[in-house]
Amino acid sequence: MKTHSTIRRQWSQEEIRQRIHELGQWFHNLNLCGIETAPDHFLGDYPSFKWRAFERSLPADLSGMTVLDVGCNAGFFSLEMKKRGAGRVVGIDTDDGYLEQARFAAQVCGADIEFRQMSVYEVARLREKFDIVLYTGVSYHLRHPLLALDLLHEFVVRDLLVFQSLLRGSTTVDRVEPDYPFAEADVFNQSGYPKMHFVEDRFAGDPTNWWIPNLACAEAMLRSAGFTIVEHPELEVFICRRAANTVWAQEESGALLRSLKGGVRS
Ligand SMILES: C[S@@+](CC[C@H](N)C(=O)[O-])C[C@H]1O[C@@H](n2cnc3c(N)ncnc32)[C@H](O)[C@@H]1O
Repeated sequence: MKTHSTIRRQWSQEEIRQRIHELGQWFHNLNLCGIETAPDHFLGDYPSFKWRAFERSLPADLSGMTVLDVGCNAGFFSLEMKKRGAGRVVGIDTDDGYLEQARFAAQVCGADIEFRQMSVYEVARLREKFDIVLYTGVSYHLRHPLLALDLLHEFVVRDLLVFQSLLRGSTTVDRVEPDYPFAEADVFNQSGYPKMHFVEDRFAGDPTNWWIPNLACAEAMLRSAGFTIVEHPELEVFICRRAANTVWAQEESGALLRSLKGGVRS
């Protein structure tokens, strides 16, 4: 049976323009039959310019592959995955307004994409692993970014994770020893030591910005959650392969995971 989004109907340019307007402010600048959804985006032609910077890091042919787009917004990356022939694409986001935009865009493009309202914290409910998980622009909006990475690793990433985060602070990455004596203080003052900047109020007028890492911290968190960084095509973008997450085996994380798995069963 065809899903709603695959029932292709012809839209006139006027109808598209009208619907884009009705769907409120767009964060993704999509080109829908020649009409742009966010032509005045403060970042420029976003996220097209971002995509161009890392698109060559992903397979050109995604036939038969499954993709999960976490924090999909209006679905720009989900649509790109479909253009590359991905067999199944699921987009999740907490914001119903963005999901409505995504469903409309997929309909106009005739792309069969499943969009669901769901938080990254709930991915266990999908009960499915995906060949590629896109996780761009979400981490710094979370109060618990490391938990989210752990959950993605445990429940949904089969092979590749594409991670992107806003970064601030130093872009040098210092060598960090696996351990230091208790008296060590200087290493924490090195600019290339992994550091997370906590935003108590708001950043760029946005109260949902909570934690902004420096480059060393983004890399260290990915490794700690069990991902091997295989490519770094752009400052903020990391292509990662799933490896072992040894931290889950430790008692605190293990207990958390057991309680989450229990929650999924019930
Ligand atoms: C900066 S936008 C990034 C959108 C898109 N991934 C991109 O890279 O262009 C952040 C998106 O994450 C969504 N989001 C915020 N918190 C989330 C959460 N806990 N789980 C899933 N999505 C979330 C927002 O609604 C928004 O669509």
